[in-house]
Amino acid sequence: MEPHILILGAPGAGKGTQSRRIAEEYDVEHVTTGDALRANKHMETEHGTPASYMDEGELVPDPVVNEIVRAALDEADGYVLDGYPRNLSQAEYLHEITDLDVVLYLDVDEEELVHRLTGRRLDPETGDIYHVEYDPAEDEEVAERLVQREDDTEETVRERLRVYRENTEPVVEFYDDEGALVRIDGEQSPDEVWKDVRDTIDSNA
Ligand code: AP5
Repeated sequence: MEPHILILGAPGAGKGTQSRRIAEEYDVEHVTTGDALRANKHMETEHGTPASYMDEGELVPDPVVNEIVRAALDEADGYVLDGYPRNLSQAEYLHEITDLDVVLYLDVDEEELVHRLTGRRLDPETGDIYHVEYDPAEDEEVAERLVQREDDTEETVRERLRVYRENTEPVVEFYDDEGALVRIDGEQSPDEVWKDVRDTIDSNA
C-alpha cells in the first residue's frame, strides 16, 4: 500500500514546497485544502464563500473542509496531506476516516515565516512556487507571469500566524503527545529539508 503522509507546519513553513516533491517521489496524491479551497473560492455554501474567510486569514468552517478532505482521501491510495487538520476537531475527524503512517512537522521561526510568505510568488501556469529572494525565477518569461497570493500581504500573514498559534499548535501538540510526530528543521535550505523529509518517510512508511 502507498504511504499515508501528513505534513504539518505554520503558514510558510514549506509544506507546499516539500509536498510537491513527496508526491512526485512516492507517486502519491498531493491533497491540499488550501489549493482545493482556492479553486472553489467563490462557491456559495451555507456558511458563505471560502473567499470571505481566506482573504481575512481566518479558517473556513469545518463542514466545508472536512467534506473536501473526505472526498479526496476516498479517491487516493497513497497521499501527502497538506494544510489539514488545522484544529482539534478536524484532527478527530481525520482520525475517524483514515490511518497515518508518518506525521512530519516543519519547524520555522515566526519572522522567517513572514519573510517567506510576503516574498512568495506563484506560477499560475505550472503551480510552481518561487521566492523573490530565496528562489527567483530564472527564465524571463516565467518571471513576468508570476503572481502573489491574495493572502500573502503582511497584514493577512500576521493574522494567519495568529490563527495558526491559536488553532493549529494544539494539533501539533496532539500528535507530539501521541509520539507520532517527527520534527524537521525547516530553516535549512529546501534541498536539506527534503533530505530529512525523505529519510523520515523511508524509515517510517
Ligand atoms: P493554505 O493554502 O493551506 O496555506 P498555509 O497553511 O497558510 O500555508 P502556505 O501555503 O501559505 O505555506 P507553505 O507551508 O505551503 O509554504 P511554501 O512551501 O509555499 O491555506 C490558505 C487558507 O485556506 C487558510 O488561511 C484558510 O483560510 C484556508 N484553509 C486551508 N486549509 C484549511 C483547513 N484545513 N481548515 C480551514 N481553513 C483552511 O513556502 C513559502 C515560501 O517560502 C515560498 O516562497 C518558498 O519558495 C519559500 N521556501 C520554502 N521552503 C524554503 C526553505 N527551506 N528555505 C527558504 N525558502 C523556502
